[in-house]
Amino acid sequence: MFPLKDKWILITGASSGFGAAAGRAFAAHGARLLLGARRLERLQQVAAEARQAGAPEAHAHVLDVRQTASVEAFVNWARSRISPRQPADARLDVLINNAGGAHGLDPVAQGKDEDWEAMLQINVLGILRMTRAALPLMERNPGSTIINVGSLAGHVAYEGGAAYCAAKAGERQITRALRLELNGTGIRVCSVDPGMAETEFSLVRFKGDAARAQQVYAGTQPLTAEDIAEILVWVASRPPHVNIDELLVKPTDQAAIHKVHRRPA
Ligand SMILES: NC(=O)c1ccc[n+]([C@@H]2O[C@H](COP(=O)([O-])OP(=O)(O)OC[C@H]3O[C@@H](n4cnc5c(N)ncnc54)[C@H](OP(=O)(O)O)[C@@H]3O)[C@@H](O)[C@H]2O)c1
Repeated sequence: MFPLKDKWILITGASSGFGAAAGRAFAAHGARLLLGARRLERLQQVAAEARQAGAPEAHAHVLDVRQTASVEAFVNWARSRISPRQPADARLDVLINNAGGAHGLDPVAQGKDEDWEAMLQINVLGILRMTRAALPLMERNPGSTIINVGSLAGHVAYEGGAAYCAAKAGERQITRALRLELNGTGIRVCSVDPGMAETEFSLVRFKGDAARAQQVYAGTQPLTAEDIAEILVWVASRPPHVNIDELLVKPTDQAAIHKVHRRPA
């Protein structure tokens, strides 16, 4: 086991979905939390829930992974939270690169530049920026873990998903390259790749169209944010010599991206 009690866990995209549930789940193991996303009020609520769930410390700070300056400011803030007297000595135990999502479901012929750019910025460049900034806090800390949240979409393509599938395939390759680069450091690198899960994901993809978002989950039983949070905790708490490389998790109702069992209404 890698005991999580009092360990420092940094979670991006912690204001909703998997990230918020992960905050609560790590808190239940007595871990200390650094939570980032753009919606500060939501983050502060998650931090309060985490403290109630058992986190000795849970802190929230605005983070926009599309901007290098925001990522660097966030990591400097994280240093001062972990080690207020000597920020240079701060050590981070778990980095969860979870911020991400899909924007639109247009086929390439109708694709919008702003959607493509947002998906590649957040899901691909966001992980690179965050990892580059946080790595100095993980060196000389064997057993520390980087978990990138990928997707079933990084394994298979679907119509309307070209840019999102490309972004999540990019996440897998970043994870693999990092594992090679960090070999010998004791830092573990994992990709957790969920299939269909009910979070704010579809609401964001369909730009606030709640009825369309609801249709995605109609008649089927998707994964919950808590299902994925439990898996993130499990990955991070393996003994330091065990690296879970890649973990693909789908709902039982989803045999493949296009094969989803739906019950009649
Ligand atoms: N739900 C699914 O079916 C599913 C399946 C496979 C993979 N995933 C992946 O799982 C991850 C979490 O998604 P979720 O399902 O939990 O969806 P969600 O509820 O929409 O959560 C997405 C999180 O990412 C944050 N985020 C978005 N843009 C950001 C930015 N520029 N900077 C910082 N944070 C940002 C959001 O916070 P703010 O808006 O407050 O910034 C939010 O906290 C994503 O990487 C997603 O691609 C989801």
